[in-house]
Amino acid sequence: MKAIVFDRLGGPEVMEYREHPKPELRPGTVLVRNHVIAVNYGDTFFIRGTYLVKPVFPDIPGMEAAGVIDAVAPDVRDLKPGMRVMYIGMGSYAEYTRIRANRVMPLPDDMSFEQAAAFPIAVLTAWHMLHTCNDTQPGQTVIVHSAAGGVGIAAVQIAKAAGTTVIGTVSSEDKIELVRKFGADHVVNYEKDDFADQALRFTNGRGVDLILDAVGKPTFEKGLRCLAPMGHLLVFGRAGGLPDRMRPFDLLGKSIKVSGFAVTMIYAFHQIHRRAVEDVFRLAREGKLTVPIGGRFPLAEAARAHRFIESRRSTGKLMLMP
Ligand SMILES: NC(=O)c1ccc[n+]([C@@H]2O[C@H](COP(=O)([O-])OP(=O)(O)OC[C@H]3O[C@@H](n4cnc5c(N)ncnc54)[C@H](OP(=O)(O)O)[C@@H]3O)[C@@H](O)[C@H]2O)c1
Repeated sequence: MKAIVFDRLGGPEVMEYREHPKPELRPGTVLVRNHVIAVNYGDTFFIRGTYLVKPVFPDIPGMEAAGVIDAVAPDVRDLKPGMRVMYIGMGSYAEYTRIRANRVMPLPDDMSFEQAAAFPIAVLTAWHMLHTCNDTQPGQTVIVHSAAGGVGIAAVQIAKAAGTTVIGTVSSEDKIELVRKFGADHVVNYEKDDFADQALRFTNGRGVDLILDAVGKPTFEKGLRCLAPMGHLLVFGRAGGLPDRMRPFDLLGKSIKVSGFAVTMIYAFHQIHRRAVEDVFRLAREGKLTVPIGGRFPLAEAARAHRFIESRRSTGKLMLMP
């Protein structure tokens, strides 16, 4: 089969489009023929060796995709060849990927592969942060950093559907309109304006209830400053570098909390996860959640997609077509 393969750590230059053995079934797995593969910012960490999971060479990047089940191990009961599915799992930048059956989710008939490819990581990360890690309530105010990106634009819509006021942040003027279009009440260019000052102004000095932060160093301290009493700063990435160490006692004064989230952990919690999948499918069906596609690339040009997402100019989800 064709795949993107890399044999050493590095940037997009280490990604090669070439022949690679088609994976063989193992107990408890299925083989998926990928139709649309989503690019995640985490993929750029994976090929550099700085992601939570480390590559084993020669390795294939990619963590989520949508496609059709090609084959099923004899011990897998609920999944059948021909089923349309989405999944979370390593090695998706390929024509075929072997996936543990419990990481595979059947698709509603009316959901396109292109929309579905963004759900296992980007959309479900946004949902779990708002509804599993945080008890988000109508009337609250939420800051979504990097709001035009894959997770960000999903979070804006899911937070709006929950009845909150949403403040999106972006690093350039040309992303503002998109974030507004997907429902944000306010959008701040945080390269130009201090988002914490702006958030305090929008909330008449009270501050915000929740911040979803995958930027890190440039945003973390300011985030603590503009949290309302009992507020929650949720860190889930570090595209802008690691923040300085935090002193837990700095949290006491406003009774605020800081927590972390990694979507890969949540897949072990089946009940919580089923509720999340049902709810994101419902939001999509009701027209409250659509993933804008910011670029489509042939799988062979995955390196170009990586350069684009690293440039900070991309919006929505970037997709690879095998
Ligand atoms: N913990 C989890 O389970 C989990 C799951 C999915 C994603 N994530 C994290 O969530 C973030 C968004 O992921 P995504 O796949 O949806 O990507 P994305 O938001 O589509 O693209 C990355 C965005 O990060 C922002 N960014 C801020 N500082 C940056 C810098 N120094 N260099 C490059 N980009 C920078 C840029 O938006 P602005 O410049 O407009 O801010 C850029 O567009 C990433 O940090 C990713 O690692 C975490």
